Amino acid sequence: MDGIRVIGGKPLNGRVKVSGAKNAALPIMCATLLSDGESHLRNVPALRDIDTAAELLGVIGREVEPSPPRVRVGTGDVIPEAPYDVVKKMRASIMVLGPLVARYGRAKVSLPGGCQIGARPVDQHLRGLEALGAKIKLEHGYIYAEAGRLQGAEVVFDMPTVTGTENIMMAAALAKGRTTLVNCAREPEIVEMARVLNKMGAKVSGAGTAVMHIEGQDELHPFDHAIMPDRIEAGTYLVAAAAAGGEVTVENVPVESLEAVIVKLRAAGVILEPSGNDVVVAREGRLRSVDITTSPHPGFPTDMQAQLMTLMCMAEGTSTIKETVFENRFMHVPELVRMGADIETQGHNTAFVRGVERMTGASVMATDLRASASLVIAGLMAEGETIVRRVYHLDRGYEHIEEKLNGIGADVVRIHSLGP
Ligand code: EPZ
Repeated sequence: MDGIRVIGGKPLNGRVKVSGAKNAALPIMCATLLSDGESHLRNVPALRDIDTAAELLGVIGREVEPSPPRVRVGTGDVIPEAPYDVVKKMRASIMVLGPLVARYGRAKVSLPGGCQIGARPVDQHLRGLEALGAKIKLEHGYIYAEAGRLQGAEVVFDMPTVTGTENIMMAAALAKGRTTLVNCAREPEIVEMARVLNKMGAKVSGAGTAVMHIEGQDELHPFDHAIMPDRIEAGTYLVAAAAAGGEVTVENVPVESLEAVIVKLRAAGVILEPSGNDVVVAREGRLRSVDITTSPHPGFPTDMQAQLMTLMCMAEGTSTIKETVFENRFMHVPELVRMGADIETQGHNTAFVRGVERMTGASVMATDLRASASLVIAGLMAEGETIVRRVYHLDRGYEHIEEKLNGIGADVVRIHSLGP
């Protein structure tokens, strides 16, 4: 497996550009199943997850041309089935379920297993489809769904679920009549999905709020869409620049969807100056500790928790970090402690980070996508060499991360076949 070697202690300077949003591109690639004809996606990031989504659409029978930043999805003879050996690579594969049932009246989709950060059940996806009239059966690790024409209904989510909301939005867009979704996720990626569904001829209103209305259509048409910038990648580079010191211009930052992160970074003493679509980030002296509690949008995003925890490792004072979205998202903690961080966890969702003045490079293990980014950031902060192992996690969500970091003065090298 590949690793990444980071030589720490170098301030970052220069310009880095944010790519298209992974968590918008993935559901939108699934939305191509809702219509025949050729759909074109632009500003798509070159990531493993995008490759996996393209592989899945190919297995289902669509003709796919994944050449990021462009992805073209053509027609084909669809078999509405998503096999385990593809779904196990990417949980977001569950988002073909809604479109397949809505369009073809049936679907066989492997249950996505849990993952490092939690059990991540899909009960809300299944209940939503049942509310729209689908018959759901779970057998041999697969979801079997059947429906005649889905019927619009009222769906109340037990909790805001991002991909759950997206799955049901896509299904409702082809259901007969009006669907009301209550307690929806409000992430910017939900609003992006609504933009695309409306381009396809659906009538979605209320996206970005807790209640959405969708007028189902008999047919939807293909679309051409440029994917919005990735707010989590953007936030990760803002933190990396603040962690390493120096002055960096991060280009293409969706500032309006990063408010919670920007407020917390400023409270810690990070200098952030938006200019158009860019943000100039700098740090003068030692940062102050701030407390973080993750929550669904517009709260502080769970996907930025590991990065902020890393930044707090060398801040003045003690930072309390609470993870309320996933049950096991502190796996970066023991790795940061090996680098000299002073972190104590209480239960599985609270961490106390006492700022230290010095961290030292070490060999550390990446465990999930955002934890691996936080370990690279720790490597930028630490003295000496850090080797982050199992960086396939990083490749799922960060386009060309070595080039981007080296482009602003870091010293990051990929090491091939490093072993487990
Ligand atoms: C999406 O995952 C993102 N992935 C995740 O990003 C992100 O961390 C997460 O939303 C939260 O923002 C994509 O968009 C592809 P949820 P998702 O359903 O939709 C519980 C990354 O780093 N839940 O919003 O799977 C669930 O267990 C990834 O890019 C149920 O109980 O997350 C969790 O506690 C990691 N039943 C909470 O809801 C369900 O049916 C929120 O999960 C669905 C969810």
